[in-house]
Amino acid sequence: MSISKWCFAQWYDVLNSIVEPKVIPYRHLTAGKSHGKTLEVGGGTGANLPYFETTSSLTIVEPDVHMTNKLSKRVNNFNKDISIVKSFGEKLPFDDNIFDSVVTTLVLCMVNDVEKVILEIYRVLKPGGKFFFYEHTVAGSFSGKLLQQLLDPIWIITTTGCHLKRDILATVKSAPFTKLEYDIFNLNVGIPITIPNIVGSGTK
Ligand SMILES: C[S@@+](CC[C@H](N)C(=O)[O-])C[C@H]1O[C@@H](n2cnc3c(N)ncnc32)[C@H](O)[C@@H]1O
Repeated sequence: MSISKWCFAQWYDVLNSIVEPKVIPYRHLTAGKSHGKTLEVGGGTGANLPYFETTSSLTIVEPDVHMTNKLSKRVNNFNKDISIVKSFGEKLPFDDNIFDSVVTTLVLCMVNDVEKVILEIYRVLKPGGKFFFYEHTVAGSFSGKLLQQLLDPIWIITTTGCHLKRDILATVKSAPFTKLEYDIFNLNVGIPITIPNIVGSGTK
């Protein structure tokens, strides 16, 4: 697993660059909207770093050592108060009610327990704080679901743990956020297959 994790981290930016131009608007709607003391869960190689424009401080949780190595180098290019914490979203090593904003982008597909991560995000947010999310999710149509069902086993292996058919929105909705706002859409990446996505925010 460690060699595949190393490969995934090395290739992540290259593979990501294929879809990144389409993804940038959603980085603006998540990282770009975060404010004050901000936490990013699953920072990866730091694709969101250029978009955290209105944060006063940024803490990035990332469990994978290979991703963290790339992230640490990239963080040096930003003149900001940024700390990287090696941990998992399921057990965030922070007190209750301390962040103004929490951001996840393309992470809840990979965590071990989506419900636990979302409840942890809720716990660490201050009352009135905001959770911003951008994720790919389960398809709405029968044919889309069938395709995800077929691709999922090989996709999980090649991406070291990304699940295609998770109903992320249902889990976000089951958490006690108020003012939940979201948009469900298909990301068209220029191939015949579109990718079902969600972008939105919830308030504690
Ligand atoms: C597909 S990458 C997305 C990275 C980045 N957020 C982006 O938008 O490009 C998913 C990241 O989530 C991290 N991850 C996986 N499981 C996690 C968990 N349980 N808690 C926090 N992060 C996790 C992975 O190590 C990886 O860096």
